[in-house]
Amino acid sequence: MTLNGRVSIITGSARGIGKRIAQLLASGGAAVVISDADESQAQATAREIETDFGGKTACIPADISQIDHIHNLVNTTVRQFERIDILVNNAGICPLNKIEDITLEEWNRVLSVNLTGVFFCCQAVMSVMKKQGSGNILNLASIAGKIGGIAAGAHYSASKAGVICLTKVFARAMAPFGVRVNAIAPGPVNTDMVKGFSEESMKILVEQAPLRRIADVDDIAEAALFLVSDAAKHITGEILDINGGLLMD
Ligand SMILES: NC(=O)c1ccc[n+]([C@@H]2O[C@H](COP(=O)([O-])OP(=O)(O)OC[C@H]3O[C@@H](n4cnc5c(N)ncnc54)[C@H](O)[C@@H]3O)[C@@H](O)[C@H]2O)c1
Repeated sequence: MTLNGRVSIITGSARGIGKRIAQLLASGGAAVVISDADESQAQATAREIETDFGGKTACIPADISQIDHIHNLVNTTVRQFERIDILVNNAGICPLNKIEDITLEEWNRVLSVNLTGVFFCCQAVMSVMKKQGSGNILNLASIAGKIGGIAAGAHYSASKAGVICLTKVFARAMAPFGVRVNAIAPGPVNTDMVKGFSEESMKILVEQAPLRRIADVDDIAEAALFLVSDAAKHITGEILDINGGLLMD
């Protein structure tokens, strides 16, 4: 499935799942905008992808909890590439505070990245995609947003439940303009994000999953590639579980 000529933005793509999605999009022929709050790592990743795949690559750092960063990301992409075909809302944070330890400041910090950031990124690309009459948005939700986090905090879980709802809201609103909006809800994936999970939580997560393994970034990125490609042209508003059978719904 070719993505030649498509222009993609992947938030939080300096490392982890976002980086792997960016690599697969680039290998499919899409131009990729690497964006992350970690500017130096984002630049290193963009250079690596440019060297490995030779396509059009840009690095536009952005902290998605800052609305002016989001607008700069979208406006700079349009100036440089003249369109936006794919937005992957991947950036996220997952602190592991216990319920009783979550302060208002911490609650707001998590929601501002994981939920408010996703909303305003979707809002910012809406007008561009509407004018084009085409586009694709893919959000990274989580199994925690469906069942309540086993290891992840209450703020994280609630933010991801919000992402699941926003995916459906934008899918309905954007369908008349030829724009599809989907989400992936992974179980645990082997990235830096799960390094803080206790051994006990990881054991529970593996033992309860029929496939008895932790996902790797390819498991998520391959599905992401499918959902943003024309092979998924009749799929919108879908929340795709990728969790080794940990949750079947
Ligand atoms: N790893 C898992 O087990 C897992 C499971 C379910 C869902 N997810 C979701 O997948 C996505 C990617 O997770 P990952 O495992 O690759 O995590 P990760 O921690 O390895 O990478 C997250 C990236 O997001 C960036 N980031 C953080 N805050 C940001 C901000 N405010 N603005 C821009 N960039 C920011 C980080 O710098 C980092 O590069 C997240 O949304 C996460 O919630 C991960």
